[in-house]
Amino acid sequence: MTSARSLFAHLTMQRGDALLSLIDLYRRDPRPGKIDLGVGVYRDDLGATPVLAAVKAAEQQLLDVQSTKSYLGPEGDLDYLELLKPIVFGPRISHEIFGVQTPGGTGAIRLACELLRAARPDIRIFLGAPTWPNHTQILDQLGINRVTFHHYDQRTQRLCFDEMMSALETGRRGDAVLLHGCCHNPSGADFSLDQWREIAELVARKGLTPLIDLAYQGLGLGLEDDAAGMRLVLDAADDALLAYSCDKNFGLYRERVGALYALSRNAMVVELAATNIRALARTNWSMPPDHGAATVRVILESECLTTLWKAELEAMRSRIAGLRARLAQANPALKPLAAQHGLFALLPLTTSQVARLRDDHAIYMASVGRINLAGLTNENIDTFARTYDACLQGEFA
Ligand code: LMR
Repeated sequence: MTSARSLFAHLTMQRGDALLSLIDLYRRDPRPGKIDLGVGVYRDDLGATPVLAAVKAAEQQLLDVQSTKSYLGPEGDLDYLELLKPIVFGPRISHEIFGVQTPGGTGAIRLACELLRAARPDIRIFLGAPTWPNHTQILDQLGINRVTFHHYDQRTQRLCFDEMMSALETGRRGDAVLLHGCCHNPSGADFSLDQWREIAELVARKGLTPLIDLAYQGLGLGLEDDAAGMRLVLDAADDALLAYSCDKNFGLYRERVGALYALSRNAMVVELAATNIRALARTNWSMPPDHGAATVRVILESECLTTLWKAELEAMRSRIAGLRARLAQANPALKPLAAQHGLFALLPLTTSQVARLRDDHAIYMASVGRINLAGLTNENIDTFARTYDACLQGEFA
């Protein structure tokens, strides 16, 4: 019973985050053979998410040599931010750049959106649908106007590129567009290089500010190829924001390792953005947590650990690509998966089919029909393909 005397009694009840609640639901399911295709975490063929060997070695090094836990300052670990730059932006950077370490990619997106709103309170952010649910939640919580277009048609399993381009044609200078850099979440449907080129041309012509969310670099086509398209857009824009996450490609998930980079052709503009980013970060988390970023820094400072990390990332990437190929071969209905990238695919399922898959077959996925392919193993992949087929055949509607 709520007491009217309590301040909290005036709050509106919020539903738990649908995706994160799957973690607990799955954990509490006693059925053997249950399949977890829920939250976006890489798993190996044993269903485990081990700490990368490069991370273990870097953490050991930190333990041995770190002599203080004193504050680093509002930007966090400056060497971490610097060492990431060539990986994200490539060898040639034509803009001035300011970077700040953030708690995960979410922290970077949140900060970017706060900055855009501070720059222009009535800003419109163009956003594809479906998208990672937290994108919309963050924009809505900040009261930012969003203009939604279709990114992907779940029923026909196709990218809606023309529809997106038409929507962006209605944009005007002062609007921003949020784009997934690679491994689109939830659909896995990325733009081709030619399509990125068209987006870059449009962004430049319309004077739109791109906000790129790059959370899965290296898990799609590889570190370089995953960044090639979005770099064209950054190159074409006067100003841009890039939200980065190391949570997935370094397997650091709970350490929450991200970065926000602000880019501009104009050094004064970057400095202006930097002062605002620092001020916004200060009121959000003051200074970012250190450990995960320090771990990434130690890896990237060492040629040997970087080589090891890249090999481990490539092993993750090729396992996911192999699972995609295998599913595409197993069932014509799953063929589109072979041309998509990263952890996720969005299956044409209804919420009640998703619920039946969970309740009757112990197969867990996001209620929109998104699967995390990395939850599949040699042992469970055939069961999944068979059950999915039965579901599509209407054997349980
Ligand atoms: C996901 O989409 O599953 C991940 O990005 C985890 C999250 O924070 O939602």
